Parts: sequence; C-alpha cells; structure tokens
Amino acid sequence: MQEQKKCKESYVMKTSMVLPPDTNAHGTLFGGKLMAYIDDAAAISAMRHARKNIVTASTDSVDFLHPIQQGDAVCLEAFVTYTGRSSMEVFVKVIAEDLLSGERNVCAMSFLTMVAIDKDGKPTPVPAVIPETDEEMSLYDSAKERAEIRKKRKKASEERVKSYEGK
Ligand SMILES: CC(C)(COP(=O)(O)OP(=O)(O)OC[C@H]1O[C@@H](n2cnc3c(N)ncnc32)[C@H](O)[C@@H]1OP(=O)(O)O)[C@@H](O)C(=O)NCCC(=O)NCCS
Repeated sequence: MQEQKKCKESYVMKTSMVLPPDTNAHGTLFGGKLMAYIDDAAAISAMRHARKNIVTASTDSVDFLHPIQQGDAVCLEAFVTYTGRSSMEVFVKVIAEDLLSGERNVCAMSFLTMVAIDKDGKPTPVPAVIPETDEEMSLYDSAKERAEIRKKRKKASEERVKSYEGK
C-alpha cells in the first residue's frame, strides 16, 4: 500500500525581518526576494513530505497584494496539499507583520509543484497526502482542477518552444 502522510507533517513556517539589502528604493521588499523565500519554503516542505531530493517543476502566478515594509516581519507558511505519482503541490501563504502594531496582512499566496527525483534526476514516487483541517481539505479537493490547468499551460509552453526551433 502507498505510504500516506498528513499535511501537517510537511508544515513549514519561516519568519525573517525585512532589512535594507532586500528592499527597493521605496523601502519595501523586492518581489524577486519574496519569490526566492516562497521557493525555499516550498522546497523544504516538499522534502519533509517526500524525504527525497526535489526540483521545482512550476510556480503558479504570485499576486503581490500588499507591499511589505522595511522593519516588518515576513512570515511564510507552507504545506503539501496534494500529490500525484512523483509531484507534490505545495501551498505557500505570505503574511507581513508590522512588529510595532501587530497588524498582519496576507501579502501573497502561491502554489508550486515540486517533483521528487532519484539519483539519476528521474521522477520518483512520493507518499500520498492526508488532509485534516478545513483549509487542507478545501485545498486538496480543488487541487485536481489546478493540476489540469498546469498541464494545459505546460503543453502551450512546449508548443511555443517548438515554434522557436530552427530560428
Ligand atoms: C520536473 C522534471 C523533473 C519533470 O521531468 P519529466 O521527465 O518531464 O517527467 P514527467 O513528464 O514524467 O513528469 C513528472 C511529474 O512532474 C509533473 N510535472 C512535470 N512538469 C510539470 C510542470 N511544468 N508543472 C506541474 N507539474 C509538472 C508531471 O505531471 C508528473 O507528475 P506525477 O508524477 O505526479 O504524475 C523535469 O522537467 C526537470 O528536471 N525540470 C527542471 C527542474 C528545475 O531545474 N527546476 C529548477 C528551476 S531553475
């Protein structure tokens, strides 16, 4: 029988303070830096689930809903929501916290697909996931629909790449 793991076993929480090397001219966090944090949290979460090496296969869109100010804490929460044979969908939620007032805002969310690989870099099986909370169940139930959209998007990318061949 396929091994199963609870979503909470892959739970990651990563908090950092936003300091000048990571901010732009407006004193807010660079989008690229935030994307690196998101990828890092998702990678740790996927490795906790699979206990194997992984690669990022895709990142769904990231909407930056609120700026994150210098001096704020940026908190990322991640867990595996759904799995295929070798792929894991990881949900990452980004919360900014004004450390002086305590006000917290969800600034961004993203779904990443991480794929477990063996020593030859080939996709290798991962455990199934068991959702427990309302949030986990809602994300689990909607995951197949997101996976279908990604399949179509990947096919379109591959076709576009082919159109460049020989040019
Ligand atoms: C991701 C990768 C390992 C997939 O290998 P592949 O030979 O295409 O293997 P498959 O087509 O069998 O796909 C394996 C799994 O990944 C999933 N997958 C592949 N590409 C995907 C994409 N773009 N988005 C979402 N899922 C994807 C497949 O659906 C499949 O899932 P399943 O096993 O759960 O059914 C390979 O494309 C790769 O190494 N890509 C580069 C990854 C990388 O370097 N990331 C860092 C970015 S700089």
